[in-house]
Amino acid sequence: MEQSLVIIKPSGVQRNLIGKIIDRFQQKGLVISGLKMMKLSEELLREHYAHLVDRPFFPTLMKSMMATPVVVICLKGVDAVAVVRSMVGVTNARNAAPGTIRGDYGMSSQENIVHASDSPENGIIETNRFFKPEEIFDYTPVTISSTYSPDELNS
Ligand code: TYD
Repeated sequence: MEQSLVIIKPSGVQRNLIGKIIDRFQQKGLVISGLKMMKLSEELLREHYAHLVDRPFFPTLMKSMMATPVVVICLKGVDAVAVVRSMVGVTNARNAAPGTIRGDYGMSSQENIVHASDSPENGIIETNRFFKPEEIFDYTPVTISSTYSPDELNS
């Protein structure tokens, strides 16, 4: 199964959306295999947002991501990366579709409530970036057989 790394950003934490966001992923059928609150260091953020260091908004992005602790979540499921990205919506929350997390809760590109991995490869890299191996749990919920068909589970 794929894994996706989600960060409930300080904008989501400040606006008391932690519970609502986790609830959406659980109701969808994604499995939480890691979950914790942490404060992000400048070093970790520079690695995570390495593709954006030269962009003019990088300094305010760093400040925004360190404004409060964040909640990091590792979600597992079939096609988890694409499923989670579609639930999160496009980067600019003002343009994000209603029904998505950014579309329902955000009004900003930067203060856009959540981060989600953009490829299966990054799902693994980012999970390893934010979690220690012993913080990730591999278990099968009893609901799995009513979440997927046997064929989907074996794919
Ligand atoms: P990016 O990886 O392009 O988007 P996404 O989070 O949807 O995968 O950008 C990372 C974060 O950088 C984005 O969530 C918020 C911030 N950002 C800005 O503050 N301004 C911008 O114009 C863009 C493109 C991103």
